[in-house]
Amino acid sequence: KKEYEDMLLLNIGQNTSLPDITYIPKNLTEISSSLSTKRGICLIKKTADNFENMIKQAKEDGYTIKASSGFRSYEYQKTLFSNAIKDDEENAVISIAKPGYSEHQLGTAIDLTGSSINYDSAVSIFDKTPEDTWLKNNAYLYGFIQSYPYDKENITGYKSEPWHYRYVGIEKAKEITNSKQTITEFLKNE
Ligand code: DAL
Ligand code: ZN
Repeated sequence: KKEYEDMLLLNIGQNTSLPDITYIPKNLTEISSSLSTKRGICLIKKTADNFENMIKQAKEDGYTIKASSGFRSYEYQKTLFSNAIKDDEENAVISIAKPGYSEHQLGTAIDLTGSSINYDSAVSIFDKTPEDTWLKNNAYLYGFIQSYPYDKENITGYKSEPWHYRYVGIEKAKEITNSKQTITEFLKNE
């Protein structure tokens, strides 16, 4: 299995794959089962540490947030994508990244959910929750940026995903937030 440096600022999107589509990040670490909806969710170490800090602060502020997805291998993404295509092709292509094209394969993307929706995973109602509001105001302080905002669907090519955040590092997260651009626009224009 190939291993590379963390690719925190790799530009990746609907039409841009990883340079090596079978990439597996190094330093993958399993996050605590108390911070996730199921066992076996992995992130690269740096992302996992910042995720934990963020979740702890959210808890202190009164919100219980957990991860429902983290690193996904090429093979796993392939299964997700082909199942979704069988189900509803039109919807699948704007909801699930093709294998080799997912931020989840970087080990720096997480899907989040909260106690207010009973930890339901990847549901659009998430943007009506207090956990979502907390994340919109605070996630960048921990280096996390929402990849697919509702008002950027025409730019990202993906349907809005209020639950999906990507770790880009704290400094970059502030810059990207201030720029009002998506991660992809920012990386392209930098
Ligand atoms: N749902 C996002 C786009 C992914 O599959 O990576
Ligand atoms: Zn996601």
